[in-house]
Amino acid sequence: MSSYENYTQKSGNYDKTREPVGTEIIVGCFAHAPVPLDRMRVLDAGSGTGSYSQALLAYVGRIEAVDLNPGMLEVAARKLAGPRNEGRISFHPARIDELPFEDAALDGIMINQVLHHLPDEASKGFPAHRRVFREFARVLKPGGVLTVNTCSQEQLRHGYWHYGLIPEAADALRNRYAPLDELIEILDDYGFSRRGRFVPIDATFQGESYFAPRGPLDKEWRDGDSVWSLVTEDRLDRALSLIQKLDERGELEAYVARNDAWRPHIGQATILFASRE
Ligand SMILES: C[S@@+](CC[C@H](N)C(=O)[O-])C[C@H]1O[C@@H](n2cnc3c(N)ncnc32)[C@H](O)[C@@H]1O
Repeated sequence: MSSYENYTQKSGNYDKTREPVGTEIIVGCFAHAPVPLDRMRVLDAGSGTGSYSQALLAYVGRIEAVDLNPGMLEVAARKLAGPRNEGRISFHPARIDELPFEDAALDGIMINQVLHHLPDEASKGFPAHRRVFREFARVLKPGGVLTVNTCSQEQLRHGYWHYGLIPEAADALRNRYAPLDELIEILDDYGFSRRGRFVPIDATFQGESYFAPRGPLDKEWRDGDSVWSLVTEDRLDRALSLIQKLDERGELEAYVARNDAWRPHIGQATILFASRE
């Protein structure tokens, strides 16, 4: 379960403003596994509403979708009823640091935008992250592929135009993400060899709706980014009235453009590619 986001409440809106960014990269990484793609058994760790599972089912043999939140799993199971009936995907209500699989049972693991939801302590070396990667090392076959979809500190600082409206919440979110060099160190510690680092440079998690200047005024739009769960009511009111003021002055589009200037160069997400030694 997320340590700060109410996904039971949000599961209904999640898919409306959220896209599975980077799936072509993840498929490319899995294509480097020792077994052919269409015979791979892949874990979707923290599968949410199953958007990444859905995209990957076009390529891999079978998916094990694991999530702690029943609301998210229910949306995923409804969406993927066809492949489920064909025996190509199973849904497991479980924690990603206590997986319901035997040792060396899986050919691939993907974890997409989940790690920052763990209740963790940066000052102690991210022990909750460590428990997850130790568990991944247990269930992944030697040579099996791991992809970690996360955000760099730079992407979190400059890759989302609306974060400037809510700076305290953006800082709080950024502090929840392990910096890439620390994440890579953890991967090394648990026996994963680094094989690459990729950025889907043009993609935005909220697709075209990301660019809507009045987007933050709409609760459904805000539900597409968990940063808004970290905003106090007072800060939210201030952010929304700033948008309204900029809009009245005819300055809103310019504000968005100015605050989105770096994103086309740095992207919003980074995908780490590693394999089990
Ligand atoms: C931001 S959503 C990402 C969902 C999906 N991977 C995607 O990118 O569309 C984070 C998901 O991780 C799940 N989650 C967080 N911590 C978890 C844990 N310790 N074990 C299992 N699932 C967890 C949440 O319930 C939520 O569905």
